[in-house]
Amino acid sequence: MSNKIILALDQGTTSSRTIAYNSEGKPIATAQQDFEQLFPKNGWVEHDPEAIWQSQLKTINEVFTKGTSANDVAGIGITNQRETTIVWNKETGEPIYNAIVWQDRRTASYCDELKSTGQEELIQEKTGLIIDAYFSATKLRWILHNVPGVTDLAKNGKLCFGTVDTWLIYKLTKGKVFVTDVSNASRTMLFNIHTLKWDDELLELFEIPKSVLPEVKSSSEVYGHAEIFDHKIPICGIAGDQQAALFGQLCTKKGMVKNTYGTGCFLLMNTDKKPVKSQNNLLTTVAWQINGKTQYALEGSVFVGGAAVQWLRDGINLIDDASEIEALASSVPDSDNVVVVPAFTGLGAPYWDPYARGSIMGISRGTTKGHIARATLEGIALQVYDIVKAMESDSNMHITELRVDGGATANNLLLQIQSDIFDCDVVRPTNLETTALGAAYLAGLAVGVFKSKDALSEYWEKDKTFKPQTNKEGQLKLIKLWHKAVNRSKNWLE
Ligand code: G3P
Repeated sequence: MSNKIILALDQGTTSSRTIAYNSEGKPIATAQQDFEQLFPKNGWVEHDPEAIWQSQLKTINEVFTKGTSANDVAGIGITNQRETTIVWNKETGEPIYNAIVWQDRRTASYCDELKSTGQEELIQEKTGLIIDAYFSATKLRWILHNVPGVTDLAKNGKLCFGTVDTWLIYKLTKGKVFVTDVSNASRTMLFNIHTLKWDDELLELFEIPKSVLPEVKSSSEVYGHAEIFDHKIPICGIAGDQQAALFGQLCTKKGMVKNTYGTGCFLLMNTDKKPVKSQNNLLTTVAWQINGKTQYALEGSVFVGGAAVQWLRDGINLIDDASEIEALASSVPDSDNVVVVPAFTGLGAPYWDPYARGSIMGISRGTTKGHIARATLEGIALQVYDIVKAMESDSNMHITELRVDGGATANNLLLQIQSDIFDCDVVRPTNLETTALGAAYLAGLAVGVFKSKDALSEYWEKDKTFKPQTNKEGQLKLIKLWHKAVNRSKNWLE
């Protein structure tokens, strides 16, 4: 099979992956590489941009040892951890500082200043975002204010800023292409989601020179060619990872919802052509732009999802392997009033409290590891519940089915708990790698490997539906306890 393979590069928060897909959207080779997480200070999270690039490159090369060669590849799609901010020297291509990761809270007090000077309305109106350290603008401003020598480079137009998609494309094209797509741009807090352009007023507010910004393109077109293999390969799809997962789940029609259980949990609802302004602290974001048509989404972002299970494993050694949590949590019939609030890096939607921290409440003499394991799964599901409620209110729609994906969805108990708490169907597809799949679809559409968006729907396959099983009363009690515990976790460090 020649020229029919699409490579999806999925650059995530803790690992880089490459998956080769055939023209039926089936994965035929996969490689994954973890890279180092840097925590220089409390609340700071950084990555080495070179380590991001090298780990990604390693996975591409590994896929090429598994029966796929560069000659077979019709196109490359890129999907990435969003908001993470990289700045490099235009002339040398060298990063001038580590990547400041989306989870990094160093700009929380500057965000407080922005709020106290009344910028919330303006920013939400233009960008669809809530003022928070999560987004790129304050991270980029921090770099411009704090890295020695950077002001001169910026003044002389010698700096490039990019989210991870931009950085990878710059590296793949040997510095020839400097672009991002609308979905990634919409997470920077510098992009006007109505005009689909960088916003001059916001650039002034954050003191960002326009010369550092990449050109903004659609999510599915040929941007340029990767030049590092034995022949040039078109790079032809880009989307932030959560928007890519929405596309990979084929939630392409208004009202369709997916939740990804990755490092965090990200629930997105397709709102079609309309950017719906949230009244409940959700985000309005660009889902993608294909053939000049833009679709929007409402998003609820939870900062810690699967990472809570990682903490049980690595932080307190409650389990040796993440897969053990299901058996441990099943060893008890309920959490016996124990509540885990996984606010390790503050609370995202709908609370937006950078000073909140995690808590375990309701511990008694009878509390066992099993109760804490079960309460952790419930804590993940309850955060998602809060977002669903906010989203129903914003969209005026009742959510009757939730498509799920991401590593933690292999856990049947988590999905059963989720269905019980929501009182609605939770549907798991056979392909859980929907993020990479979405990027592959976007790239394949641009180069004709996939015919049309509508034709893709035949590729979506259900694995299992989880239906509500428990009584409502028990769930209501759990939800009440959860909200009590969330309130006590707020403002912990303020
Ligand atoms: O907004 C952050 C998100 O894009 C991170 O996703 O999958 O790397 O946890 P992930």
